[in-house]
Amino acid sequence: MSKPAWKTLSVVLAMAVSLPAFAVQDQAIPDDSLGLSKTSVYDIPDAPVMAEYGGGDPGSNKRIAKSYYSAPPMIPHTIKDMVPITRDTNLCRDCHVLPDLIGQKLSPGMPIPSPASHYVDVKKGELYMGRWNCIQCHRPQAKVDLLVKSTFRKAK
Ligand code: HEC
Ligand code: HEC
Repeated sequence: MSKPAWKTLSVVLAMAVSLPAFAVQDQAIPDDSLGLSKTSVYDIPDAPVMAEYGGGDPGSNKRIAKSYYSAPPMIPHTIKDMVPITRDTNLCRDCHVLPDLIGQKLSPGMPIPSPASHYVDVKKGELYMGRWNCIQCHRPQAKVDLLVKSTFRKAK
């Protein structure tokens, strides 16, 4: 005698409900693998060590090699007394908005002019205000122990 239809249906339904539940359990991610940090997300991490930004006064530093073509160059000098930058107060401009220097040979100690991409009108030296906050892209550098190792490799 064959099974009544309702019995077959209840078996199928039970499988449909329980299978995904097993599947989810197998894929559960442990707390210490949720982020890049190899600790549980419930641990309270130690406060990171304060970074000491290096760099001497502008004019006394070597330019830092770019990590890749078209990367925003890093700031080799101190920016201690130049921040915060606001829309209307920006010391970076005094030394770096120098359109006449674009393409000129620079001797050591001379400020590097912001490139043409940074102006609305290069001839007038009119800065494109979408770029007023220079340190959004250009950063001073510090020697620190990385919290998370970077796997970035320079392109050959
Ligand atoms: C008093 C002038 C002066 C001021 C103010 C100044 N800089 Fe500079 N900057 C320089 C000089 C000179 C260099 C060349 C490196 C050196 O000798 O320190 C330089 C280099 C740089 C470089 C490296 C460019 C490259 O192609 O390698 C960046 C980026 C930069 N500065 C950004 C900034 C930012 C952002 C500010 C504002 C927070 C700023 N600078 C303020 C003079 C200045
Ligand atoms: C949105 C990101 C961004 C902002 C904001 C920005 N820059 Fe740049 N900057 C770049 C990139 C990317 C480059 C390199 C590519 C290029 O030439 O455009 C660069 C290049 C430079 C260079 C090096 C030029 C050279 O010949 O090597 C200087 C100096 C510079 N920027 C200064 C500034 C200053 C000063 C400000 C603020 C007024 C500023 N930048 C704002 C992204 C930015």
